[in-house]
Amino acid sequence: MARTAIVTGGTRGIGAAIAVALKQAGCNVAANYAGNDEAAQGFNAETGIPVYKWSVADYDACAGGIAQVEADLGPVDILVNNAGITRDAPFHKMTREQWTDVINTNLNGVFNMTHPVWNGMRERKFGRVITISSINGQKGQFAQANYSASKAGDLGFTKALAQEGARNGITVNAICPGYIGTDMVMAVPEKVREAIIAQIPVGRLGEADEIARCVVFLASDDAGFITGSTITANGGQYFT
Ligand code: CAA
Repeated sequence: MARTAIVTGGTRGIGAAIAVALKQAGCNVAANYAGNDEAAQGFNAETGIPVYKWSVADYDACAGGIAQVEADLGPVDILVNNAGITRDAPFHKMTREQWTDVINTNLNGVFNMTHPVWNGMRERKFGRVITISSINGQKGQFAQANYSASKAGDLGFTKALAQEGARNGITVNAICPGYIGTDMVMAVPEKVREAIIAQIPVGRLGEADEIARCVVFLASDDAGFITGSTITANGGQYFT
C-alpha cells in the first residue's frame, strides 16, 4: 500500500522537490506551507499534490494539521521536516525576535511536527523521520548564530530520537545540504554568494533535486538499517 508522507515547507524550494520526488516514488504526499498562498496554489495546480497551511512553529496548529492530513490521506508514515527560515545578522545586531523566530521554526518546529506523529509510528512499527538540517549547523556561519544553533539542534534531536525509534521500526535521519540554488540562498547578497560559490569544490550551487533524491532513499525500505545518520550533500564544501 502507498505510504503517506508530509513535507513541511513543501511547496517551494527544496521542500517542493522532495514532495514531487516522494510522489514519483509512489507515496501519497501532503505539502505543508506557512505563508505564501500564491506559490502553494501554483504548486498544487502544477503537481496535483494537496497543500495544507499551518505554521510549524505552532504546536496546536501542527497537531490539527496532521489530524486533517491523516483524515484525508491516512496515517503518516514519512515525515520530512524541511521548513526553515533565516534571519541573518551579525550577533551584535541580532534581535531577540530574530533569535526566537529562527529557533521556533527550525528547531521547535521539528519537535512540533514529530511529536504528534510519533505514537502512531510506534504503534504501526514503521516510520521515517527525515530532517533537513544544514551545512551551517555543522560548521557554523558568520551572521547565523540563530540558524546554526537551530540546525545543530536538529542533528542532536535526530541522534537522540533514532535511539528511541529503533526498536519500533522507525528510522530518524538528517540531511545537511550545502548551498542550494533556492530563494533562501538567492537572497544572500550577490557578492557574498559569489564568494560562497568560490568555496564549493564542485564549483556550483547544489540543486534541490539532489537533496530530494537523498530523502527518497532514506524514506525507502532499502534504508531500514540507516538511523541516526547525517547525509552531507554540499559539493565538498565541508567534511565532518
Ligand atoms: N567572515 C568574517 N567577516 C565577515 C563575513 C564572514 N563570513 N561576512 C561578512 N563579514 C564582515 C564584513 O566584511 C563586514 O566587515 P567590515 O564592517 O569590517 O567591513 C561585516 O562583517 C559586515 O558587517 P555589516 O554591518 O555590513 O553587516 P550587515 O548587518 O549588513 O549584515 C550579512 C550582512 C547579514 C552578514 C550579509 O553579509 C549576509 O547575508 N551574509 C551571508 C550569510 C550567509 O551565508 N547566510 C546563509 C544563508 S543561506 C542558508 O542559510 C541556507 C543554508 O542552509 C546553507
